[in-house]
Amino acid sequence: MEPVEIKKGIYWVGAIDWDLKNFHGYQTLRGSSYNAYLIMDEKITLIDTVKEAFTHEMIERISKIVDPSKIDVIVSNHVEMDHSGALPQILKYCPHATLITSPNGEKGLRKHYGNFHDDKVVTSFETFSIGKRTLQFVLMPMVHWPDSMATYIPEEKILFPNDAFGQHIASTERFDDEIGPDIVLEESAKYYANIVLPFERQVQKVLKDTSGLAIGLIAPSHGVIWRSHIPKIVELYDKWSKNIAEEKAVVIYDTMWHSTEKMAHAITSIFEDQNIPVERLFLQDHHISDVMTHVLNAKYICVGCPTLNNGLLPTVAAFLCYLKGLAPKGRVGLAFGSYGWGGQSIPLIEETFKALGYETLPSQKVQYVPQEMELSVIRKELSAVLKK
Ligand code: FEO
Repeated sequence: MEPVEIKKGIYWVGAIDWDLKNFHGYQTLRGSSYNAYLIMDEKITLIDTVKEAFTHEMIERISKIVDPSKIDVIVSNHVEMDHSGALPQILKYCPHATLITSPNGEKGLRKHYGNFHDDKVVTSFETFSIGKRTLQFVLMPMVHWPDSMATYIPEEKILFPNDAFGQHIASTERFDDEIGPDIVLEESAKYYANIVLPFERQVQKVLKDTSGLAIGLIAPSHGVIWRSHIPKIVELYDKWSKNIAEEKAVVIYDTMWHSTEKMAHAITSIFEDQNIPVERLFLQDHHISDVMTHVLNAKYICVGCPTLNNGLLPTVAAFLCYLKGLAPKGRVGLAFGSYGWGGQSIPLIEETFKALGYETLPSQKVQYVPQEMELSVIRKELSAVLKK
């Protein structure tokens, strides 16, 4: 694939990872891309690089525009290796290039690659002229690493926010309107839920810091570039980072002998009867990273698990661990499950809800196989609580 000119003199020169299916536990069935951008100005500038294994692909694309040895400036917006992996290699082509990164980026790059280059460290809102254009830097610590920063070009109205506003999509299309909003917004929600979610306060700060900027393009480091749906994705980031949950329930469970499954069905029907949108997600069919996309805007998080060996089924334990790390706030939890004799699964689920600071609905547990009478009691009790 050729480089793509996204604006006059500014090119996408990244790499497409069609085979990526798992990004440290986040299932990425649509693959991903690592976006690097080349700006042809008096100082030829490269914004971010790609994963090390794709170095050749990026250098080939750059070479179709300019000899890589002519690069004068490299901006490293983020140290994580999907964006900095090719940095040591590209610097061998242009050893005298100025490397711009944040203060934490400088520390992080040295911890990854040793003392491989003299950095120019920028601070928030510092600017750097590359000729006709200016690079303006916005530090965004913990969106989602301490080193993360965005680069803005006022003359072009382009924001390069690295991971923020990204989506894990491999495609030859480079713009949101070329793929269509459904897929792009779905993948953006999944990306937010699995990567950005813990950093709500920091996202709000970035939205505030960038709110005064005129933005015509948002060019993230994964997926497609935003040009037609910028207000929508900014509105969604604002909503997600304010933890605005909807009157919606998710019933997440695994089961051994269908008993907890019967309870999951009964609990789902309670929400249906109350006209509360509900999704039932069986953990043997739904990957935890997809479950998190459904959790993103749900007020009620119901988790069901039978007791196995005095504990949880591994699928549910993994989900709870993941949920605790991503920590969506202000939700209402419901623990449920069947048991034979110990019944320890329920307090373990409750423990996670407590750690997350959730309000809870009354936990529901049934010994062995739930009989219709027992399911009916569950329906009655929870319906009464929800009606309050
Ligand atoms: Fe896409 Fe935080 O790396």
